Amino acid sequence: MSTLLVLGALALVARTGCTDNGLNPSGVSDLDYTDVELGLTPRGPRFDVAHSKNVTALVGKTAQLNCRVHDLGNRTVSWIRHRDIHLLTSGRMTYTSDQRFISVHNPHTEDWILKIRFPQRRDSGVYECQVGTTPPIGHRMYLSVVEPVTTILGGPELFINTGSTINLTCVVQHSPEPPPAIRWTHKEEEINYDSPRGGVSVITEKGETTTSHLLVQKARMADSGRYTCAPANANPISVQVHVLSGEHPAAMQHGGQLRIQYPISAAMLSIIVTLMGCYYKQDIRNIL
Ligand SMILES: *[C@@H]1O[C@H](CO)[C@@H](O)[C@H](O)[C@H]1NC(C)=O
Ligand SMILES: *[C@@H]1O[C@H](CO)[C@@H](O)[C@H](O)[C@H]1NC(C)=O
Ligand SMILES: *[C@@H]1O[C@H](CO)[C@@H](O)[C@H](O)[C@H]1NC(C)=O
Repeated sequence: MSTLLVLGALALVARTGCTDNGLNPSGVSDLDYTDVELGLTPRGPRFDVAHSKNVTALVGKTAQLNCRVHDLGNRTVSWIRHRDIHLLTSGRMTYTSDQRFISVHNPHTEDWILKIRFPQRRDSGVYECQVGTTPPIGHRMYLSVVEPVTTILGGPELFINTGSTINLTCVVQHSPEPPPAIRWTHKEEEINYDSPRGGVSVITEKGETTTSHLLVQKARMADSGRYTCAPANANPISVQVHVLSGEHPAAMQHGGQLRIQYPISAAMLSIIVTLMGCYYKQDIRNIL
């Protein structure tokens, strides 16, 4: 309601041709408007688009859209959300009941910042920074709120033969920037790449999708347990590694790295338990 009123008032001001930007009332033409929008008019407000860019933010981490306006004079800067044409802030006032939106302006700067606390994915979209000239001029920015996803290929359980290489591949997707670091832990302890054990290395390829391979050569039983990949700016993820003792024909066929699906492993377990039961019975009979 208040949005409509404000927009209506702006439209009315525009139509009546009254100015507050120093132009002759009769001199307000389409050409002048275009010039102002393109920032060609030497005086009068213009956007510094290099400092008013699209923003990618993380879910839950305060996002900031910046709008830099040169020669603003005494005009007001407003932030409008395009999704529902909602006036969020005007000057340093907030016009939305959603208290996550805050207008920030330091009088010593030309920056008008829209802060969004606890952003969610649905906050993604176009936001417009509008300057109350007659007619108003606007600059649109796109906010995308993303949630990084971390996965370890083949998880959550990996079965590996003794002596073969454990190759854990951790993938980080939808991260606004590559994780500055990826930590690997084994049984909750930081992996030491210079440990006397040797043969432990990590290869990380950063990019739009970041991939980190943890390689443990000549796997032994002691290498079993929980491994966690913890990117600096994304959720950690863990896998349970089981280093199988002895020979395992199925594992040989799969290049040493074997993935057993839950239903199969459950079925196998029950067979093993049944067989063990038989042996025990036999043993007991032999003893008797
Ligand atoms: C802005 O300043 C000009 C003169 O510099 C003045 O005429 C005008 O009324 C002012 N506008 C507002 C909204 O204060
Ligand atoms: C901002 O994002 C929108 C939507 O994704 C895109 O069309 C536009 O080109 C982007 N602008 C800049 C300056 O990157
Ligand atoms: C580890 O596994 C990944 C994914 O399967 C593969 O791309 C990579 O080449 C492997 N690295 C080594 C050293 O085997």
